[in-house]
Amino acid sequence: MSNNSSSFESFAEQIATQLASSIFQTTELLAELVRMSEKYYSNSHSVFVGEKSEAVARSLGCNEGDCFEIKTAGLLHDIGKIGSPDNILSRQPNELSTDDFRYYSSHIEEGYRLLSIHEELKSIANIVFQHHERIDGSGFPNRLKKNDINLGAKIISVVDYYHNAMFRLPRDKRASNSQITNTTTYLESTHPRFVQTMNYLHQKSGIYYSVDVVDAFTAVIEAERRQLGEKTILRVAVNQIKPGMLFANDYSTSYGLLIAASGEPISEEAIKRLVSLAEIGEIPSKILVMR
Ligand SMILES: [Fe+2]
Ligand SMILES: [Fe+2]
Repeated sequence: MSNNSSSFESFAEQIATQLASSIFQTTELLAELVRMSEKYYSNSHSVFVGEKSEAVARSLGCNEGDCFEIKTAGLLHDIGKIGSPDNILSRQPNELSTDDFRYYSSHIEEGYRLLSIHEELKSIANIVFQHHERIDGSGFPNRLKKNDINLGAKIISVVDYYHNAMFRLPRDKRASNSQITNTTTYLESTHPRFVQTMNYLHQKSGIYYSVDVVDAFTAVIEAERRQLGEKTILRVAVNQIKPGMLFANDYSTSYGLLIAASGEPISEEAIKRLVSLAEIGEIPSKILVMR
């Protein structure tokens, strides 16, 4: 009996591990697809929103499971925009005509529909569904207020605003491998925009955005900018990159797939991928990293 139950437990554990890895792979695959529709940003919008939302969730005391869901919802929040035409993708929502805005706002329902297909992604779909709600009830699609909006959606809406305000490219410009020369220049050149963006978030804190979330995000982003001030940028051969360095630029394959986003930490796995991509000439043999 005990033998049976222990073999059942290990079987159940094995299934659970396989399921977890299949969900992880599914979300990774979806995230790659989302990245391909991000040509109007100077770095990956979804990666930024995923990572910073996770950091905010963690600083607000969320458990591991919630942090994973919020990060994944951040990565996939705009999945409903896949296939949207350029005249929608290249404009800010307030520049759209009434009809185009209706089309744009349908990315919420579309994202929810896509993610709900997978039973295991239901709670992530619920976060995605609310990421344009505002706590005063002026958001969409359901004009939800305060506590009717889930925490993940409240976090994503703040990070989403920040990234759009800081890194969205003007309509006539598409993402290219723009070269950052060093972090000091980067911090100086983005400072006025940074101040303006943070002022807006604090003005709308308690109106559109949750006060706790705005405060937590401010702490996360200010710590990052402080840290960035202490980093140097180097051009390093891919086989000499060490884990823990950060990408200092975006790198894409010749067919447009973003494989590294500026600011992302570089893992052991990523180094192996970079070396093989450099060998076949898909990326330069030396790339910009921060240390
Ligand atoms: Fe959105
Ligand atoms: Fe977004």
